[in-house]
Amino acid sequence: MHSTALPPDLNPAHLPRHIAVIMDGNGRWATQRGLPRIAGHRQGAKTLKALLQCCQDWGIPVLTAYAFSTENWRRPLEEVTFLLRLFERLLHQELRAMQQAGVRVRFIGDLTALPESLQTLMSEAAAATADNDGIEFNVAVNYGSRLELTQAFRGIAADLLQGKIRLEDFQESWVEARLFTAGSPDPDLLIRTSGEQRLSNYLLWQLAYAELYFTNVLWPDFDREALAEALRAYQGRDRKFGGLPPTYLTA
Ligand code: IPE
Ligand code: IPE
Ligand code: MG
Repeated sequence: MHSTALPPDLNPAHLPRHIAVIMDGNGRWATQRGLPRIAGHRQGAKTLKALLQCCQDWGIPVLTAYAFSTENWRRPLEEVTFLLRLFERLLHQELRAMQQAGVRVRFIGDLTALPESLQTLMSEAAAATADNDGIEFNVAVNYGSRLELTQAFRGIAADLLQGKIRLEDFQESWVEARLFTAGSPDPDLLIRTSGEQRLSNYLLWQLAYAELYFTNVLWPDFDREALAEALRAYQGRDRKFGGLPPTYLTA
């Protein structure tokens, strides 16, 4: 059994409020073991469950995980079908535990393209947990930033054309309010596993000031110690948001 306490070298007052993860490397993890790629996805799901638990234990209020991108439909039908079934099975299995732990689960992305049975489960899970006061857990499924922004702009354009809003009043908060992530704080830390160093159409607007952390660890191996390592890197960063570090201001 692992300890549920935050590692002592981490400062509990400087944890990210919101961690976004790109769970990458499932396929390679499986291939390295001579297993079919889907075995990596199965193991990756266990990793996500453990990470959610760890974020709860360590007091991180929001976790957003990239589970399926708008580009992932390009994969072989067999793999796509497996992933969609896996999501459905996991939701069935985990809803009760999430409910007991006070998790608020939400799905972000164009859910209308997903199988109806999955859409139903997703909206039921979101509704059933909406009033919980524990960790906010966002799962990005059929998510793509360009799709999200395009939908937001389309909505704003429609309101403009109908005269509901005035062009002169157009501001950032209008876009934000129309993103799938509306209501969540922006991520403070983005973690991508498996050595790839790109965003792959993930949270392009929301990550404007996030600290980016890339690790060679493959997603199925991303354990508590790997998260602690990411948090150490995060706590070593100087977040300036365009300003100057505090030492300059007091000097
Ligand atoms: C991430 O692992 C999971 C999804 C994109 C669904 P990959 O399946 O991309 O694993 P690699 O990159 O092929 O190793
Ligand atoms: C990003 O991983 C999407 C998810 C983790 C769901 P990919 O493996 O699909 O990204 P690329 O294709 O390497 O950019
Ligand atoms: Mg990949």
